Parts: sequence; structure tokens; C-alpha cells
Amino acid sequence: MPEHTFRLNGEQVTVDAADDERLLWVLRDILGVTGPKYGCGINVCKACTSHVNGKAANPCSIPVKDLRATDEVTTIEGLPGTVGEELHPMQRAWLEQDVAQCGYCQPGQIMAAVALVRRVKEEGRQVTDEDLDGIRNICRCGTYFRIREAIRAGAEKM
Ligand code: FES
Ligand code: FES
Repeated sequence: MPEHTFRLNGEQVTVDAADDERLLWVLRDILGVTGPKYGCGINVCKACTSHVNGKAANPCSIPVKDLRATDEVTTIEGLPGTVGEELHPMQRAWLEQDVAQCGYCQPGQIMAAVALVRRVKEEGRQVTDEDLDGIRNICRCGTYFRIREAIRAGAEKM
């Protein structure tokens, strides 16, 4: 099996995996990083949302061979480390708004939210309803209203 090297949550990792093995399975099955959830496997549900170089990405659709050694993959496990705290401000907002129901979609929701707020701030503006409508992460429990409230609250602390 070929070796693939990339950065994961601040550390360099090397895995033996087929070139076309997708990152979600590399993370979950080889590296034991299970924050990114498997929902559809075809880049639709967004349950696996993580960050690649700070931008939202769906590891179920990324063949591991496409990662370069310098690419930084961040999962929900590594999110607090990006701010050097026990929890990222978006995670605190999530707790304060009591967002989660079953919880399955929530790591992906938080990672999508953080990427959105980062992008919006880079553009020098506030999160709009249109931005929130653009998040496509599915929640079967229907926690969408609390998700939107938490994103607005978390954005103020980021
Ligand atoms: S599991 Fe990745 S988008 Fe559904
Ligand atoms: S909290 Fe259950 S799927 Fe979103």
C-alpha cells in the first residue's frame, strides 16, 4: 500500500492506504479519529464536514492521494487547538444554546459554522440569513433554529 503524509490536528501523520481511499475512512478506520461522522459517503449530508487548510471540506469525497504533506486537516477533535483553549468559542455557543439533540450531525455542523464565520470575517462583514441558508448540513432531528442562533452567538466571540 502506498504511504500518504499530511497534517492532522497540528501533527504530521503518515498512513498506508490505497490512493483512492477517501479521507473519511482514513480518519475513522486507520487513525481512530471519529469526530467526522459517516452519513451518506457521497458528499451530500455533510455529517463528515471538517477543515482542509481552514476551509470546510467533506472527507468522504477526498481521495487520500490528493492531500499534500503540508495540507492541514482539522477535525472537531482539533478545533479547540486552533484557538489554544479547551473549547472553541463556537463549541461554547453550542453548549449555551443547548443545540444538540441526538448529536450525530453536530460535529459537522460546528465545523461548517466555524468555516462560514471565518470566511465572512475575512470579507469584513457579519453573518447574514443568506449565509446561514447556505449551510447544507442535514440534521435529522431538526435543530436548525438553535444551530442558527448558536452560529450568530459564536460569531460574536470569534
Ligand atoms: S458522509 Fe460526507 S457528506 Fe455525507
Ligand atoms: S442532532 Fe440529531 S441529526 Fe442533528
